[in-house]
Amino acid sequence: MIALGVESTADNLGIGIVTSDKQVLANILDIHVPQEGGIHPREAARHHSENMGTAIKKALDTAGVTGKDIDIIAFAQGPGLGPCLRTGATSARALAAYLGKPLVGVNHCVAHVEVGRMATGAEDPLTLYVSGGNTMVSGYESGRYRIFGETLDIAIGNCLDTFARAAGLEYPGGPDIERKAKLGEKLIPLPYTVKGMDLSYSGLLTAITGELETGKHSVEDLCFSLQETAYAMLGEITERALAHTGKPELLLTGGVAANKRLAGIVNDIAEEHGAEPFIVPIRLAADNGAMIAWTGIEAYNAGVRTPVETSHVNPNWRMDQVEVPWRS
Ligand code: ATP
Ligand code: FE2
Repeated sequence: MIALGVESTADNLGIGIVTSDKQVLANILDIHVPQEGGIHPREAARHHSENMGTAIKKALDTAGVTGKDIDIIAFAQGPGLGPCLRTGATSARALAAYLGKPLVGVNHCVAHVEVGRMATGAEDPLTLYVSGGNTMVSGYESGRYRIFGETLDIAIGNCLDTFARAAGLEYPGGPDIERKAKLGEKLIPLPYTVKGMDLSYSGLLTAITGELETGKHSVEDLCFSLQETAYAMLGEITERALAHTGKPELLLTGGVAANKRLAGIVNDIAEEHGAEPFIVPIRLAADNGAMIAWTGIEAYNAGVRTPVETSHVNPNWRMDQVEVPWRS
Protein backbone atom coordinates (compact mmCIF):
# COMPACT_ATOMS: atom_id res chain seq x y z
CA MET A 1 0.00 0.00 0.00
CA ILE A 2 1.19 3.55 -0.77
CA ALA A 3 0.07 6.67 1.10
CA LEU A 4 0.54 10.32 0.26
CA GLY A 5 0.65 12.56 3.35
CA VAL A 6 0.02 16.31 3.49
CA GLU A 7 1.54 18.23 6.39
CA SER A 8 0.63 21.91 6.73
CA THR A 9 0.03 22.61 10.40
CA ALA A 10 2.36 25.62 10.64
CA ASP A 11 5.15 27.15 8.54
CA ASN A 12 6.34 23.93 6.86
CA LEU A 13 4.55 22.51 3.87
CA GLY A 14 5.41 18.82 3.58
CA ILE A 15 4.36 16.14 1.11
CA GLY A 16 5.47 12.59 1.86
CA ILE A 17 4.95 9.31 0.04
CA VAL A 18 5.41 6.18 2.14
CA THR A 19 4.72 2.47 1.63
CA SER A 20 3.19 0.05 4.12
CA ASP A 21 6.58 -1.66 4.42
CA LYS A 22 8.03 1.57 5.84
CA GLN A 23 9.82 2.87 2.78
CA VAL A 24 9.90 6.65 2.49
CA LEU A 25 9.72 7.13 -1.29
CA ALA A 26 9.57 10.93 -1.09
CA ASN A 27 9.56 13.55 1.64
CA ILE A 28 9.35 17.01 0.09
CA LEU A 29 9.72 19.97 2.43
CA ASP A 30 8.91 23.54 1.47
CA ILE A 31 9.51 25.90 4.39
CA HIS A 32 7.88 29.29 4.63
CA VAL A 33 10.31 31.72 6.25
CA PRO A 34 8.56 34.87 7.48
CA GLN A 35 10.19 38.09 6.23
CA GLU A 36 10.16 39.43 9.77
CA GLY A 37 8.85 38.37 13.15
CA GLY A 38 7.19 35.03 13.86
CA ILE A 39 4.79 32.93 11.83
CA HIS A 40 1.86 34.78 10.32
CA PRO A 41 -0.87 32.14 9.86
CA ARG A 42 -2.46 33.68 6.76
CA GLU A 43 0.88 34.40 5.09
CA ALA A 44 2.00 30.81 5.75
CA ALA A 45 -1.32 29.47 4.42
CA ARG A 46 -0.91 31.55 1.25
CA HIS A 47 2.58 30.11 0.83
CA HIS A 48 1.21 26.58 1.22
CA SER A 49 -1.59 27.02 -1.30
CA GLU A 50 0.76 28.64 -3.83
CA ASN A 51 3.29 25.82 -3.52
CA MET A 52 1.01 22.83 -2.97
CA GLY A 53 0.75 21.77 -6.61
CA THR A 54 4.50 21.94 -7.17
CA ALA A 55 5.25 20.05 -3.95
CA ILE A 56 2.80 17.24 -4.80
CA LYS A 57 4.22 16.92 -8.32
CA LYS A 58 7.77 16.90 -6.95
CA ALA A 59 6.84 14.17 -4.44
CA LEU A 60 5.25 11.97 -7.13
CA ASP A 61 8.27 12.46 -9.43
CA THR A 62 10.75 11.73 -6.64
CA ALA A 63 8.86 8.59 -5.63
CA GLY A 64 8.57 7.50 -9.26
CA VAL A 65 4.83 6.93 -8.96
CA THR A 66 1.70 8.49 -10.44
CA GLY A 67 -1.55 9.47 -8.75
CA LYS A 68 -3.02 6.10 -9.74
CA ASP A 69 -0.45 4.25 -7.60
CA ILE A 70 -1.51 6.09 -4.42
CA ASP A 71 -3.91 4.08 -2.23
CA ILE A 72 -4.80 6.61 0.48
CA ILE A 73 -4.51 10.35 1.06
CA ALA A 74 -3.58 11.28 4.62
CA PHE A 75 -3.54 14.83 5.95
CA ALA A 76 -2.75 16.58 9.23
CA GLN A 77 -6.19 17.44 10.64
CA GLY A 78 -4.82 19.19 13.75
CA PRO A 79 -3.52 20.60 15.99
CA GLY A 80 -2.07 23.67 14.32
CA LEU A 81 -2.85 27.05 12.82
CA GLY A 82 -6.36 27.20 11.34
CA PRO A 83 -5.57 28.80 7.96
CA CYS A 84 -2.58 26.48 7.38
CA LEU A 85 -4.53 23.38 8.37
CA ARG A 86 -7.44 24.34 6.12
CA THR A 87 -5.16 24.76 3.11
CA GLY A 88 -3.75 21.25 3.57
CA ALA A 89 -7.17 19.72 4.24
CA THR A 90 -8.71 21.35 1.16
CA SER A 91 -5.93 20.03 -1.06
CA ALA A 92 -6.16 16.55 0.47
CA ARG A 93 -9.94 16.41 -0.04
CA ALA A 94 -9.59 17.57 -3.64
CA LEU A 95 -6.85 15.03 -4.34
CA ALA A 96 -8.80 12.17 -2.72
CA ALA A 97 -11.94 13.06 -4.70
CA TYR A 98 -10.01 13.42 -7.97
CA LEU A 99 -8.19 10.10 -7.54
CA GLY A 100 -11.19 8.35 -5.99
CA LYS A 101 -9.11 7.30 -2.95
CA PRO A 102 -9.98 7.25 0.78
CA LEU A 103 -9.09 10.16 3.02
CA VAL A 104 -7.51 9.69 6.47
CA GLY A 105 -7.20 12.60 8.93
CA VAL A 106 -4.14 12.31 11.17
CA ASN A 107 -3.25 13.98 14.46
CA HIS A 108 0.07 15.81 13.97
CA CYS A 109 1.39 15.00 17.48
CA VAL A 110 0.55 11.32 17.15
CA ALA A 111 2.37 11.37 13.79
CA HIS A 112 5.58 12.67 15.45
CA VAL A 113 5.44 9.65 17.79
CA GLU A 114 4.51 7.16 15.07
CA VAL A 115 7.28 8.23 12.71
CA GLY A 116 9.71 7.95 15.61
CA ARG A 117 8.55 4.39 16.24
CA MET A 118 8.70 3.60 12.53
CA ALA A 119 12.19 4.98 11.98
CA THR A 120 13.84 3.67 15.15
CA GLY A 121 12.05 0.38 15.72
CA ALA A 122 10.89 1.41 19.20
CA GLU A 123 7.72 -0.50 20.07
CA ASP A 124 6.26 0.90 23.26
CA PRO A 125 8.28 3.96 24.21
CA LEU A 126 7.73 6.75 26.66
CA THR A 127 8.05 9.70 24.27
CA LEU A 128 9.47 13.16 24.79
CA TYR A 129 8.01 15.22 21.93
CA VAL A 130 9.58 18.64 21.63
CA SER A 131 8.99 21.16 18.86
CA GLY A 132 8.14 24.78 18.10
CA GLY A 133 4.55 24.39 19.25
CA ASN A 134 4.57 21.36 21.55
CA THR A 135 6.40 20.07 24.60
CA MET A 136 5.02 16.87 26.09
CA VAL A 137 5.84 13.53 27.63
CA SER A 138 3.45 10.80 26.56
CA GLY A 139 3.03 7.07 26.39
CA TYR A 140 0.51 4.54 25.14
CA GLU A 141 -1.98 3.25 27.69
CA SER A 142 -5.43 1.64 27.17
CA GLY A 143 -6.10 2.71 23.60
CA ARG A 144 -4.64 6.21 23.63
CA TYR A 145 -1.46 8.20 23.97
CA ARG A 146 -1.72 9.59 27.49
CA ILE A 147 0.03 12.86 28.30
CA PHE A 148 2.03 12.55 31.52
CA GLY A 149 3.57 15.99 31.47
CA GLU A 150 3.55 19.06 29.25
CA THR A 151 4.30 22.76 29.11
CA LEU A 152 1.84 25.01 30.91
CA ASP A 153 2.56 27.91 28.57
CA ILE A 154 4.95 28.16 25.60
CA ALA A 155 6.77 25.27 23.92
CA ILE A 156 10.53 24.74 24.17
CA GLY A 157 11.08 25.48 20.45
CA ASN A 158 9.07 28.68 20.71
CA CYS A 159 11.22 29.73 23.68
CA LEU A 160 14.42 29.05 21.71
CA ASP A 161 13.17 30.77 18.56
CA THR A 162 11.93 33.87 20.39
CA PHE A 163 15.22 34.26 22.22
CA ALA A 164 17.16 33.73 18.99
CA ARG A 165 15.22 36.50 17.30
CA ALA A 166 15.90 38.88 20.20
CA ALA A 167 19.61 38.01 20.06
CA GLY A 168 19.81 38.43 16.28
CA LEU A 169 20.58 34.74 15.67
CA GLU A 170 19.45 32.65 12.70
CA TYR A 171 15.81 31.58 12.36
CA PRO A 172 14.65 29.05 13.48
CA GLY A 173 16.80 29.46 16.55
CA GLY A 174 17.50 25.91 17.73
CA PRO A 175 20.52 25.05 15.55
CA ASP A 176 22.30 28.41 16.00
CA ILE A 177 21.73 28.35 19.78
CA GLU A 178 23.14 24.82 19.88
CA ARG A 179 26.30 25.88 18.00
CA LYS A 180 26.87 28.92 20.23
CA ALA A 181 26.09 27.00 23.44
CA LYS A 182 29.04 24.69 22.75
CA LEU A 183 31.35 27.69 23.22
CA GLY A 184 29.66 28.94 26.41
CA GLU A 185 31.32 28.47 29.80
CA LYS A 186 29.41 30.45 32.40
CA LEU A 187 26.06 29.22 33.75
CA ILE A 188 23.86 32.28 34.35
CA PRO A 189 21.24 31.57 37.07
CA LEU A 190 17.81 31.40 35.42
CA PRO A 191 14.31 30.42 36.61
CA TYR A 192 13.80 26.66 36.64
CA THR A 193 10.06 25.98 36.66
CA VAL A 194 8.83 22.43 37.08
CA LYS A 195 5.40 21.97 38.65
CA GLY A 196 4.69 18.34 39.34
CA MET A 197 4.91 16.63 35.96
CA ASP A 198 4.51 19.88 34.02
CA LEU A 199 6.87 22.71 33.26
CA SER A 200 6.78 26.33 32.19
CA TYR A 201 9.07 28.28 29.87
CA SER A 202 7.65 31.81 29.85
CA GLY A 203 9.53 32.91 32.98
CA LEU A 204 12.75 31.48 31.60
CA LEU A 205 12.25 33.34 28.31
CA THR A 206 11.58 36.64 30.10
CA ALA A 207 14.66 36.16 32.28
CA ILE A 208 17.08 35.20 29.50
CA THR A 209 15.84 38.12 27.38
CA GLY A 210 16.46 40.39 30.37
CA GLU A 211 20.00 39.02 30.75
CA LEU A 212 20.60 39.63 27.03
CA GLU A 213 19.51 43.25 27.41
CA THR A 214 21.97 43.92 30.24
CA GLY A 215 24.78 43.49 27.70
CA LYS A 216 26.85 41.83 30.43
CA HIS A 217 27.03 38.32 28.97
CA SER A 218 28.44 36.84 25.80
CA VAL A 219 25.86 35.34 23.44
CA GLU A 220 27.65 31.99 23.91
CA ASP A 221 27.11 32.06 27.69
CA LEU A 222 23.48 33.07 27.18
CA CYS A 223 22.86 30.18 24.77
CA PHE A 224 24.68 27.73 27.04
CA SER A 225 22.67 28.80 30.09
CA LEU A 226 19.37 28.74 28.21
CA GLN A 227 19.99 25.23 26.88
CA GLU A 228 21.24 23.81 30.18
CA THR A 229 18.28 25.18 32.15
CA ALA A 230 15.60 24.37 29.58
CA TYR A 231 16.84 20.84 28.92
CA ALA A 232 17.37 20.04 32.60
CA MET A 233 13.66 20.82 33.12
CA LEU A 234 12.74 18.47 30.27
CA GLY A 235 15.05 15.83 31.74
CA GLU A 236 13.39 16.04 35.14
CA ILE A 237 9.82 15.48 33.94
CA THR A 238 10.91 12.80 31.48
CA GLU A 239 12.78 10.89 34.15
CA ARG A 240 9.85 11.05 36.52
CA ALA A 241 7.42 9.80 33.86
CA LEU A 242 9.80 6.99 32.92
CA ALA A 243 10.06 5.85 36.54
CA HIS A 244 6.27 6.14 36.94
CA THR A 245 5.31 4.20 33.80
CA GLY A 246 8.18 1.73 33.81
CA LYS A 247 8.24 1.86 29.99
CA PRO A 248 11.11 -0.20 28.50
CA GLU A 249 11.99 2.42 25.88
CA LEU A 250 12.51 6.18 25.71
CA LEU A 251 11.97 8.02 22.42
CA LEU A 252 12.94 11.61 21.60
CA THR A 253 10.99 13.13 18.70
CA GLY A 254 9.95 16.50 17.16
CA GLY A 255 12.09 19.27 15.68
CA VAL A 256 14.08 19.91 18.88
CA ALA A 257 15.14 16.22 18.84
CA ALA A 258 17.86 17.39 16.43
CA ASN A 259 19.67 18.83 19.47
CA LYS A 260 22.70 16.75 20.49
CA ARG A 261 22.81 18.05 24.05
CA LEU A 262 19.18 17.08 24.64
CA ALA A 263 19.77 13.69 22.97
CA GLY A 264 22.66 13.15 25.40
CA ILE A 265 20.41 13.87 28.38
CA VAL A 266 17.77 11.46 27.04
CA ASN A 267 20.41 8.76 26.56
CA ASP A 268 21.66 9.24 30.14
CA ILE A 269 18.15 9.03 31.62
CA ALA A 270 17.36 5.88 29.65
CA GLU A 271 20.59 4.25 30.73
CA GLU A 272 19.96 5.03 34.38
CA HIS A 273 16.51 3.44 34.23
CA GLY A 274 17.44 0.42 32.15
CA ALA A 275 15.37 1.65 29.20
CA GLU A 276 16.50 1.64 25.60
CA PRO A 277 16.95 5.13 24.12
CA PHE A 278 15.81 6.06 20.60
CA ILE A 279 16.30 9.39 18.83
CA VAL A 280 14.29 10.12 15.69
CA PRO A 281 16.61 10.65 12.68
CA ILE A 282 17.05 14.30 11.80
CA ARG A 283 15.30 14.08 8.39
CA LEU A 284 12.12 12.89 10.12
CA ALA A 285 12.43 15.04 13.27
CA ALA A 286 10.90 18.27 11.99
CA ASP A 287 7.41 18.56 10.52
CA ASN A 288 7.19 16.46 7.38
CA GLY A 289 4.70 14.74 5.12
CA ALA A 290 6.16 11.25 5.54
CA MET A 291 5.09 11.11 9.18
CA ILE A 292 1.52 11.94 8.16
CA ALA A 293 1.55 9.36 5.35
CA TRP A 294 2.91 6.64 7.65
CA THR A 295 0.41 7.34 10.44
CA GLY A 296 -2.32 7.37 7.78
CA ILE A 297 -1.33 3.83 6.77
CA GLU A 298 -1.40 2.58 10.37
CA ALA A 299 -4.78 4.20 11.01
CA TYR A 300 -6.27 3.03 7.70
CA ASN A 301 -5.17 -0.56 8.33
CA ALA A 302 -6.90 -0.40 11.73
CA GLY A 303 -10.15 0.73 10.07
CA VAL A 304 -9.92 4.51 10.46
CA ARG A 305 -11.59 6.51 7.66
CA THR A 306 -12.29 10.22 7.45
CA PRO A 307 -15.29 10.91 5.23
CA VAL A 308 -15.40 14.42 3.79
CA GLU A 309 -18.33 15.33 6.09
CA THR A 310 -16.14 14.87 9.18
CA SER A 311 -12.88 16.08 7.66
CA HIS A 312 -13.04 19.62 9.10
CA VAL A 313 -9.79 20.62 10.77
CA ASN A 314 -9.34 20.86 14.54
CA PRO A 315 -6.69 23.44 15.56
CA ASN A 316 -6.87 22.31 19.21
CA TRP A 317 -6.98 18.53 18.73
CA ARG A 318 -5.09 17.11 21.69
CA MET A 319 -3.10 13.95 21.32
CA ASP A 320 -4.91 12.24 24.20
CA GLN A 321 -8.27 12.70 22.43
CA VAL A 322 -7.20 10.44 19.56
CA GLU A 323 -8.09 6.76 19.56
CA VAL A 324 -5.18 4.66 18.33
CA PRO A 325 -6.69 1.29 17.39
CA TRP A 326 -3.50 0.21 15.60
CA ARG A 327 -1.75 -0.12 18.96
CA SER A 328 -4.37 -2.23 20.73
P1 ATP B 1 4.80 21.38 15.98
O1 ATP B 1 3.66 21.76 15.11
O2 ATP B 1 4.92 19.90 16.16
O3 ATP B 1 4.90 22.11 17.22
P2 ATP B 1 6.85 22.86 14.58
O4 ATP B 1 6.05 23.56 13.56
O5 ATP B 1 7.41 23.64 15.65
O6 ATP B 1 6.07 21.60 15.08
P3 ATP B 1 9.17 21.19 14.09
O7 ATP B 1 9.78 21.17 12.75
O8 ATP B 1 8.73 19.92 14.69
O9 ATP B 1 8.02 22.19 13.81
O10 ATP B 1 10.16 21.89 15.12
C1 ATP B 1 10.78 23.13 14.84
C2 ATP B 1 11.54 23.57 16.07
O11 ATP B 1 12.71 22.75 16.23
C3 ATP B 1 12.01 25.01 16.01
O12 ATP B 1 11.62 25.65 17.21
C4 ATP B 1 13.53 24.89 15.92
O13 ATP B 1 14.23 25.95 16.54
C5 ATP B 1 13.77 23.58 16.65
N1 ATP B 1 15.07 22.98 16.33
C6 ATP B 1 15.53 22.58 15.12
N2 ATP B 1 16.81 22.14 15.22
C7 ATP B 1 17.16 22.27 16.54
C8 ATP B 1 18.35 22.02 17.29
N3 ATP B 1 19.45 21.54 16.72
N4 ATP B 1 18.32 22.28 18.62
C9 ATP B 1 17.22 22.77 19.22
N5 ATP B 1 16.08 23.05 18.56
C10 ATP B 1 16.05 22.81 17.24
FE1 FE2 C 1 5.49 19.23 14.49
